[in-house]
Amino acid sequence: MGDKGKILFGLSVFVILVTFPFWSRLAAAGDSDGSRPELEYPADATACVEDTPYMTVNHMNLLNEWRDDLVRDGNPEYISSTGETYLKSLTKTCLDCHENRDDFCTSCHDYADVQPTCWECHTTKGGGA
Ligand code: HEC
Ligand code: HEC
Ligand code: HEC
Repeated sequence: MGDKGKILFGLSVFVILVTFPFWSRLAAAGDSDGSRPELEYPADATACVEDTPYMTVNHMNLLNEWRDDLVRDGNPEYISSTGETYLKSLTKTCLDCHENRDDFCTSCHDYADVQPTCWECHTTKGGGA
């Protein structure tokens, strides 16, 4: 690999090493060290679109995929790995179950110190984008 490749490889190893303890804490089933924030889960659903450990780490990639798919080919349906069909929508799907955005999405994002800038456009459940 060239110099550029080596630098990129080094960078990605660095990122993984630096973020690993954080992810392993978030992904841990229990709250062993007590630092994971208290989150409000949907009262009337037991499962997410994909399994929970996958969602914890990959929900942002799934959302990007949904948006890109929808814009590219206009297909609004997502078939999950268990064969369920969902509408590819941040507000109409994710927030339909995770109704309390403040005590779910935002609690965890505050803890993780990330500020997704989706909400200036995607606000109400009914309104789409
Ligand atoms: C500047 C405004 C704007 C911002 C900011 C924005 N979006 Fe969108 N988004 C749109 C528009 C416009 C569409 C197209 C709506 C349509 O075709 O129904 C869209 C569509 C989508 C869709 C598919 C349709 C739906 O109802 O959800 C997803 C998923 C999505 N965006 C996710 C995100 C995420 C995640 C973020 C934050 C990281 C984000 N968007 C930030 C404007 C925005
Ligand atoms: C059918 C209802 C439903 C939909 C739709 C749904 N979720 Fe979930 N989600 C859940 C439930 C229930 C859990 C917790 C499952 C458990 O107890 O393991 C969960 C878990 C999660 C987690 C992991 C939380 C943690 O503790 O680590 C994230 C992140 C998440 N969802 C984000 C999303 C996003 C983003 C979307 C849209 C792409 C979405 N969810 C759509 C019901 C849903
Ligand atoms: C268990 C913790 C947790 C929960 C719950 C959670 N997120 Fe996240 N989210 C994260 C982390 C951590 C990141 C940053 C990941 C990274 O930078 O690699 C993130 C990043 C994102 C991003 C990408 C932001 C960006 O600027 O690139 C979007 C969009 C997002 N989350 C949407 C949601 C939505 C919508 C919900 C609620 C339905 C939600 N998240 C719930 C932990 C969580």
